[in-house]
Amino acid sequence: MYVAPSLLSANFLKLEEEIKAVSEAGADLLHIDVMDGHFVPNLTFGPCVIEKISAITQVPLDVHLMANDVIKFIDLFIPLKPKFISFHIEAENHPIRLCEYLKNHGIHPAIVLNPHTPIDSIKHMIEFVDMVLLMSVNPGFGGQKFLPLIYDKIKELRSLIDKKNAKVFIEVDGGINGLNASDLEAAGADILVAGSYIFSSNDYKTSISSLKLKF
Ligand code: DX5
Ligand code: ZN
Repeated sequence: MYVAPSLLSANFLKLEEEIKAVSEAGADLLHIDVMDGHFVPNLTFGPCVIEKISAITQVPLDVHLMANDVIKFIDLFIPLKPKFISFHIEAENHPIRLCEYLKNHGIHPAIVLNPHTPIDSIKHMIEFVDMVLLMSVNPGFGGQKFLPLIYDKIKELRSLIDKKNAKVFIEVDGGINGLNASDLEAAGADILVAGSYIFSSNDYKTSISSLKLKF
C-alpha cells in the first residue's frame, strides 16, 4: 500500500517543514489538490506554489486537478513534471486524447471519478490511464465524511482492470484514516490519499504507517 499525504491539510505557513516531515515519515507521493473555484467551490494551489514545492522535495508529485477547463490546467502543470496528473471524467469530453497528450509529455495520466460516477464511464478507456482515482468524498474540501459506497466501486474497478489485463493503480481519496485503511486495501486499493488524518496527528510517521499496514 502506498500513501499520498494531501498537502491541502498541511500548515501552509510552514509548508517546507511539513513537506520534509511527511517525506521523512514515509510519504510515497505528495498529493496536491488544484481547485478552480468552478468545478469545485474552493481555490487552492497554482503553479507558482507547486514549482516551489517541487524544488524542495524528491518525493514524486501527484497533482489532482479539480477544474472545468482541463486542458488549460494541464498545460499549466506539465512544465513542473509531476509524476501523475489526474483530471475528472465529469469535466472532459475527450479524456483519451488528454491521456495520450500527458503521456507524450512524460507524465502518467490518471482519471478521477466523483462518488456518484459509475465505473462503467471509464470502461472503454482503462487501457489509456496509469491510475484511476476514486473519490470517497465529494471533492472540494479536506476533513469530510468518508462515503462507504466506495468499497463496491473499488471491487468493480479491480475486476475491470483484471479483466482487461491492464496495469493501472487504484487510488482512493477522501475521509481516509487508520480505521478504514485495511478495508480499502482488502477491496483492492493501491494508493491511499489522506489529508486531515495525517496532518492533524502529532506523529506523521505513526499515522502514515497505520495506513500502510498490511492486514
Ligand atoms: C478533496 C481532496 C482531498 C482532500 C482529502 O477534494 O481531493 O485530496 O485533501 O482530505 P481528507 O483526507 O481530509 O478527506
Ligand atoms: Zn485530492
